[in-house]
Amino acid sequence: MVPVKILMVCLGNICRSPLAQGILESKIDSSKYTVDSAGTAAYHTGNSPDPRSIAIANQHGISIQNQKARQFSILDFQKFHYIYVMDKTNYRDIISLASSEDEKRKVKLILDNEMEVPDPYYGGEEGFKKCFTLLDHACNRIIRILEDE
Ligand code: 4NP
Repeated sequence: MVPVKILMVCLGNICRSPLAQGILESKIDSSKYTVDSAGTAAYHTGNSPDPRSIAIANQHGISIQNQKARQFSILDFQKFHYIYVMDKTNYRDIISLASSEDEKRKVKLILDNEMEVPDPYYGGEEGFKKCFTLLDHACNRIIRILEDE
């Protein structure tokens, strides 16, 4: 069976989306689903995740330190079945690159009810804890969605 491919997207691909990738990977059967992440911006291409994201992931037994940041590419619309974005700016940026309604339909905010995962980059460790909690709930919801489809 072909795995369902899920892409997590934030701005820099060093704080939120690497965590989202690691959390979802820790919960799924990797023969059924694969997860990757990307940023709308290229500032951090090739970099490891932010040390604060690595730390909060480690505290929950999840290893994300081997991930490397990359920028979203329009080819990702072909490669992935679901594209989950962290906030409304990411949503607008990715939707603006879509070239069909099918591509647009793949893009969803990772939280429900129009909520956003706040960018923790310029804040302290509390922001990373909150980010982990939000993403952990979001990933549980994604699994329920995937299993219903
Ligand atoms: P992320 O956080 O989008 O969750 O990876 C950010 C990382 C870096 C920057 C902004 C947000 N930056 O401006 O460099």
